[in-house]
Amino acid sequence: MELPGVIASTRAAVRRAGLDDQYEFVEGNAFDVDWGEPASYDLALVANLCHLFDGEANLRLVRRVAEALRPGGRVAIVDILPTERGDGPRPAVLYALGLVLRTGSGRIYPYSTFRHWLGEGGFEDTRRHNLPGPYPFTLITGRRR
Ligand SMILES: C[S@@+](CC[C@H](N)C(=O)[O-])C[C@H]1O[C@@H](n2cnc3c(N)ncnc32)[C@H](O)[C@@H]1O
Repeated sequence: MELPGVIASTRAAVRRAGLDDQYEFVEGNAFDVDWGEPASYDLALVANLCHLFDGEANLRLVRRVAEALRPGGRVAIVDILPTERGDGPRPAVLYALGLVLRTGSGRIYPYSTFRHWLGEGGFEDTRRHNLPGPYPFTLITGRRR
């Protein structure tokens, strides 16, 4: 799924990777696009998206994702997370500064906030996994109740 103005690049990247036969493309806005039959997906990947939106929008997004997943289905969120105090790590804090400069509502959120959204949105068994690499990317998973 990608915004109409961007999806051509998405298609080109998938083609370059030779993965055309593994993708169906859905063009639209995550907040109102038709994802088809409710409760029909096993897994939803939400990669580097939540930092673009404010808290209220993210809770709406998580609820939409929950509706799309079958009971027991999983959400996997990847994002750059700060500490709970918001005082580091340095790459995360610098990224947050960039979000303030280039987006209207973007910011980075600590794990407790994702956990809250997932709980409110219909997920349980929320877990976090720090991903290897120079940036503080975190994988957060939850299971649809
Ligand atoms: C930081 S990029 C992450 C791209 C990719 N998921 C990744 O992890 O490499 C955020 C992507 O979300 C898309 N995006 C932003 N707002 C969106 C929305 N409302 N609905 C769908 N996609 C959106 C942007 O066009 C952009 O490609």
